Amino acid sequence: MRIVHTITELRQALAGATKTAFVPTMGNLHEGHLSLVKLARERGGPVVASVFVNRLQFAPHEDFDRYPRTFERDCDLLRSVGCNVVFAPSEDELYPEPQVFRIQPPPELGDILEGHFRPGFFTGVSTVVLKLFNCVQPRVAVFGKKDYQQLMVVRRMVQQLALPTEIVAGETTRAEDGLALSSRNGYLSESERAEAVQLAMSLKHIQLSMRNGHPDPAALEQEVMDNLRQRGWVPDYVAIRRRVDLGVPSAEQRAAGEPLVVLAAAKLGNTRLIDNMEI
Ligand code: PAJ
Repeated sequence: MRIVHTITELRQALAGATKTAFVPTMGNLHEGHLSLVKLARERGGPVVASVFVNRLQFAPHEDFDRYPRTFERDCDLLRSVGCNVVFAPSEDELYPEPQVFRIQPPPELGDILEGHFRPGFFTGVSTVVLKLFNCVQPRVAVFGKKDYQQLMVVRRMVQQLALPTEIVAGETTRAEDGLALSSRNGYLSESERAEAVQLAMSLKHIQLSMRNGHPDPAALEQEVMDNLRQRGWVPDYVAIRRRVDLGVPSAEQRAAGEPLVVLAAAKLGNTRLIDNMEI
């Protein structure tokens, strides 16, 4: 496995490759990330993973500075699952001057849910993803459903900008109790970690209720948010949406079997967790 820190070295490492599969990450890797690398390996070409904590997608009050950086361990894990190239640019390498050209997702996708609570987040994500794609020039890129809205934003960007990259979605890897693996789980205290599973359990409850024909999604969202609040959480949103565009489904669409997904974000202590489940 080669570890490269500059775009020039990356281009040399990939010279002549036409089937590169790419897994962008911010490091502090866990089994969820590794499952994406395994999916990328199935495509038969060289596999590149990037490790870059992207300042552009963090608001000033967010956890950019304390985001866990565990590069050596990340490389060991990537090597163990057969990654071929790790691209770990410095900030100076990727952003040698202020990144003033930015990709702005359409508001109806980029300013709802996560984008509503984290203004500018999907502009930061889209911009770095496009830039990383330009560095790696992948045939395929793998993203996790864990960040469902991010996956949708990237898909739309690729489609609308006619990028020559196929986007593959990986299922969410969960701990034994159901908590979605996340780098931010490391911020949880022992008692918070025990409570954290309630987020996944709430989504499961909504999934089952909707499958059993619950007539009032808005009431169900409220019930679950109230329950989380009573348990000490501060929910940002619990939202039952159309899978296709994350819009609010009409009663007619629900009756017609429109594919749905429930997405949630909530704070437990100082840690903000997100999760979702397809219904
Ligand atoms: P990061 O949070 O490191 O996640 C990298 C990739 O791993 C994303 O596609 C994410 O959806 C996926 N992932 C995270 N947890 C997962 C889990 N439990 N199961 C399966 N996949 C999981 O997402 C980012 O980084 C950044 O926004 C990035 C796309 C790299 C741009 O900076």
